[in-house]
Amino acid sequence: MGLSVVILAAGKGTRMKSAMPKVLHPLAKKPLVEHVYDTAQKLGADEVVIVYGHGGEQVKAGCYHFKAKWVEQKEQLGTGHAVQHGLEAVNLKNDVLILYGDVPLTSVESLQLLLEDFENKIALMTVRLETPTGYGRIIRDKHDKVTGIIEQKDASEEQKKINEVNTGILAARGELLKSLLERVDNNNAQGEYYLTDIFALAAKDGIEIITSHPSEPWEVEGINNRLQLAALERIHQANIANKLMADGVTLVDPARIDIRGQVDISNDVFIDVNVIIEGNVKIGTGTTIGPNVVVTNSTIGENVTIKANCVIEDTIIGNNVDVGPFARLRPETYLHDNSRVGNFVEIKKSDIGAGSKVNHLSYIGDTEMGKNVNIGAGTITCNYDGANKHKTVIKDNVFVGSDTQLVAPVVVEEGATIGAGATITKNVDKDNLVISRVPQKSINGWERPKKK
Ligand code: UD1
Ligand code: CA
Repeated sequence: MGLSVVILAAGKGTRMKSAMPKVLHPLAKKPLVEHVYDTAQKLGADEVVIVYGHGGEQVKAGCYHFKAKWVEQKEQLGTGHAVQHGLEAVNLKNDVLILYGDVPLTSVESLQLLLEDFENKIALMTVRLETPTGYGRIIRDKHDKVTGIIEQKDASEEQKKINEVNTGILAARGELLKSLLERVDNNNAQGEYYLTDIFALAAKDGIEIITSHPSEPWEVEGINNRLQLAALERIHQANIANKLMADGVTLVDPARIDIRGQVDISNDVFIDVNVIIEGNVKIGTGTTIGPNVVVTNSTIGENVTIKANCVIEDTIIGNNVDVGPFARLRPETYLHDNSRVGNFVEIKKSDIGAGSKVNHLSYIGDTEMGKNVNIGAGTITCNYDGANKHKTVIKDNVFVGSDTQLVAPVVVEEGATIGAGATITKNVDKDNLVISRVPQKSINGWERPKKK
């Protein structure tokens, strides 16, 4: 039997007080609804249907890469009405799982448990809460069978004491769901078509309702305001940090690392405080990441030392490399094994060969650098002529003196030495020494002008 997932995402999200639709607000840099979409993919859904309403075009644009069917719910007349719309795009022979665009952290495991063995039944995820206020309460008979769900606003004082609540997450065959929803009306305190009304109807028809619980209560927490968003972000980050530590990564303070993406961090990696890791990042064993480092979409090898305050983006770093403090590695940088990039150095779209050093205050851009090159302090590759970018090639064993400008396009052949303060505008031959500076002049007996 196939699986269709319907994600409800039509709500306005008024309490976010935002021009951006609620489900696009990011958790770990990913829109809330994308967390739910990804979960549906991991469950192996054959089709995903998203019911959208408020800010529809914005939501669609934010989710342009989804393989999903979009169904518009023009007026938000209730969760039952929303699911009815969603079912219009669903293969009704499938099992249908209802998820919510503002409930981002439901685990695949808890959903698999819900979907286990529910053929011809309705599967409902419920949770027991100390403070059930606001939620729909689960009504059970004396045999503990679910006979319905009563919303907070329709509940009697006695029913309000029930602390088993509806998470909203449920699954049933599409045909069954459709036929039950056709019988739901809006005669209730909110004048809405409640999805939850299908349970009393099903119970009357003798359809069994089976329940399961999430492993953790935060898995079914929804987001209505930015306080709840921040709280779930912290829970999500703590989960990632706990997993890393269990896998042998040292986090000096697990509350001061944020991971926003897919990471593969080996054991015996040491990570200091206030580190942010984004996108796809891989870090090899024995590597140390200093405080206040931001790493985005990069691969870092083994036994690398990244010192404090580095910003690293779209970069590949080999083994035994030292970087920083205060280095900026921009996209398409490749630091080969045993190389060294020191403080206040910016590198862009360049290869730094094995054993080469760029230690102080330099800009290296569009450069192909060989092995064991030494770049003196304050060296600049002048890669931009105001219109186009040009390449600098520095071959193996070159020594570049401090305060050199290499005006690209230019090639410095193997073993060449460039004296300090040079402006290199022509190619440099192999093993040559190049000096380009005004000869030093001394004026004997010169007097400084005096103030009149
Ligand atoms: C709903 C449940 C309640 C449950 C709670 C869990 C119903 C009637 N009640 O209540 O039992 O305890 O969720 O959080 O189902 N939505 C639409 N279109 C609509 C209405 C809602 O897409 O017309 C979406 C909202 O964007 C939201 C979700 O459905 O993501 C839930 O809607 P909401 O109005 O917040 O339901 P609750 O009153 O919280
Ligand atoms: Ca809600």
